[in-house]
Amino acid sequence: MVSRQISEQYDSWLGGFARWSASLPEDRPVDMLFGNPHDLVSAAYVEALQRAARPDDAHAYAYTMDLPAATEAIAEGLRSRFDMPFAAEHVAMTNGNFTGLAATLRAVADPGDEVVYVSPPWFFYESLIQAGGMTPVRVVAVAGTYDLDLEAIERAIGPRTRAIIVNSPNNPTGRIYPPSMLDDLSALLLAASERHGAPIYLLSDEAYNRVVFDERSFHTPVAHYPYSFLLYTYAKTLLSPGSRLGYVAMSPTMPDTETVAAALLLARITTGWGFPISLLQRAVPDLERMEPAVPVWESRRDRLCGAMADQGYDLIIPEGTFYVLARAPLGDDRAFCDALARDGVWVLPGAMFESPGRFRISLTANDDMIDRAIPAFARAIEAFRS
Ligand SMILES: Cc1ncc(COP(=O)(O)O)c(C=O)c1O
Repeated sequence: MVSRQISEQYDSWLGGFARWSASLPEDRPVDMLFGNPHDLVSAAYVEALQRAARPDDAHAYAYTMDLPAATEAIAEGLRSRFDMPFAAEHVAMTNGNFTGLAATLRAVADPGDEVVYVSPPWFFYESLIQAGGMTPVRVVAVAGTYDLDLEAIERAIGPRTRAIIVNSPNNPTGRIYPPSMLDDLSALLLAASERHGAPIYLLSDEAYNRVVFDERSFHTPVAHYPYSFLLYTYAKTLLSPGSRLGYVAMSPTMPDTETVAAALLLARITTGWGFPISLLQRAVPDLERMEPAVPVWESRRDRLCGAMADQGYDLIIPEGTFYVLARAPLGDDRAFCDALARDGVWVLPGAMFESPGRFRISLTANDDMIDRAIPAFARAIEAFRS
């Protein structure tokens, strides 16, 4: 049975969301709740999957763990992007970052250990930590900038701390952490690992590492700290979250690589065969070559954020990801999201990601939705002001 702690969390979060979303009007809504596609996936993506579906030998549909064709293509991509000596044996295939997180946590931590995460977080960090029998330790990001609060992280670390989850580009704030901050984090983690006599592992959740705006560079925390894992999912880059495909790449400088790789293998088996289906793995070399629609999301960001700023919203222009975090007028996120939903626009109340008083908009809405959303945002802020 799912533990009481997790069911309670489910009830306060997913259950609450399910009840709230069931009450939303359904007449052609502008759905800006989650990072879901609202346009057809590209023809190139479908063709890659069709090619991969055709068996070329009898093993094509056998049980598949880490398919070398996939792990080699990924290692090659990582080498060229990050200038680090990634090899196929550093790569562990997962069916997305849900499994990447669950399996990596189990590989490096034991029940009773503590795992630090940064708030506001992605919704499921706390539950995934708890599901592994570990204790989540929340550290709030710096107010205003949403940077890592390194002093608070240091204070949160104790003898039972085994891991920290870092998410850059960050969902929901859109913040990308600069290299100097990652160096400071690394120094802090190395010192704490030394102090407590065991490594603290860094899980770098990089679901959006290719969704970066304004020609910014993304710097992976994995280049700054040896005990680290890069967790990636194709769900966001290729806007295909229903095709469960991703990987965990351990840092090439990870000490004791073989033991860690064996732990990751066992963790994925015991997480319920957390490997992607063989068809998806065979498509990886093609998918690796596909470019995300960053210019499209960036122009939607500019159009929507520009209009909302003119209307008087206090919002954060994201550096990456496809989310915009804004302050709810009068501070009641739920009342504001309800009012907006009655006008046909669905956005996510901040209470659902530890940010009461704010709301989150997904830029994966299509152009027609953005056109309809802009006047609705204007009506909503006007109504709350008056
Ligand atoms: C920050 C972050 N991590 C992990 C995930 C989960 O990714 P996937 O659905 O590919 O497992 C998401 C999905 O929204 C996310 O935004």
